Amino acid sequence: MTANKKMLFLPGDGIGPEVMDQVKRVMDGMAKSRAVNFDIIDGLVGGACYDAHGCAVTDETMTDAMNVDAVMLGAVGGPKWDDVARQHRPEAGLLRLRKDMDLYANLRPAIVFDALIDASTLKADVISGLDILILRELTAGVYFGEPRGIETLADGTRRGLDTQVYTEAEIERIARLAFELAGKRNGRVTSSEKANVMESGVFWREVVTNVHKDYADIELNHMYADNCAMQLVRNPKQFDVIVTDNLFGDILSDCAAMLTGSLGMLPSASLGEADESGRRRAMYEPVHGSAPDIAGEDKANPLATILSYAMCLKYSFDMTEDAAMLETAVEDVLGQGLRTPDIMSDGMTAVSTTQMGEAVVTELDKLAG
Ligand code: IPM
Ligand code: MG
Repeated sequence: MTANKKMLFLPGDGIGPEVMDQVKRVMDGMAKSRAVNFDIIDGLVGGACYDAHGCAVTDETMTDAMNVDAVMLGAVGGPKWDDVARQHRPEAGLLRLRKDMDLYANLRPAIVFDALIDASTLKADVISGLDILILRELTAGVYFGEPRGIETLADGTRRGLDTQVYTEAEIERIARLAFELAGKRNGRVTSSEKANVMESGVFWREVVTNVHKDYADIELNHMYADNCAMQLVRNPKQFDVIVTDNLFGDILSDCAAMLTGSLGMLPSASLGEADESGRRRAMYEPVHGSAPDIAGEDKANPLATILSYAMCLKYSFDMTEDAAMLETAVEDVLGQGLRTPDIMSDGMTAVSTTQMGEAVVTELDKLAG
């Protein structure tokens, strides 16, 4: 039923390849039990690409990324490439994919699974039942603003600079999506910036407020980003959708990840604008990084990547039923007490990356039964 749908797989660096292998395992499982099939192209990104080609992503891979129906990415980066020039550093590959594919909307849901309540450092009553969505603007702001650089002034002093800049259109489209998404959830949007200090923050607030006029049934409130970080750990259940810029979104989503027990649990979807046929460019990746310290040890948690694949089924292929089944399978293996080291707690069963992937497939088979 999904013949000819194409996906590009970019495992990247560190634990990227290991966790992506588990997605392939899940895909193979679903191909058998649910007749879900895709054509997969494999590619390199990050340090892996730099080692092979001297750049963080090749033009050929970029062309593939632009033409497939969805991209799945593992992780990029590691100390091995610390001394590489910035334009070729592993992160540059990821940023080029985001920018050239115009993936302006980064959805980072933070959901607390009941079975993992003890894995979080926060008290159970603060996080139980938590289901929030961080919507991060992904193609503008300080990540891409010009001018930027490290320069020497006429008097010989040096300085480093970056530019935080947002156009009205860039704020408008992410705000619009925030209201649309909130409409399918609990109808509340918190917009986060630093309007008390930054001009771009004042402007962000103004544009979001204007867009809100088209969404009378959605509740909007504004919150300074520092307060938002604090509220996320104090009382995260007050939020539904948090919409914010590229940099604050980077920080707040790491913070939200820890509410769920581990960075190893948080999936993400990066989406472009829909064309006339409703098709969007899209890339799916776990929020966690490449964790070079445990790479190759079969210890990494593959669930964030597996859950990213569930987001892919939902947002790129409209296969909500399959996505829900995969999410249930993940919930079930956690319910059985299986834990990778990052989410391990007393009385639970320690498993490897591979064993976790296998357990999800076994569970899927049962569910598809
Ligand atoms: C993320 C990561 C990236 C970012 C890095 C790897 C460039 O932290 O996706 O959150 O800063 O956006
Ligand atoms: Mg980050």
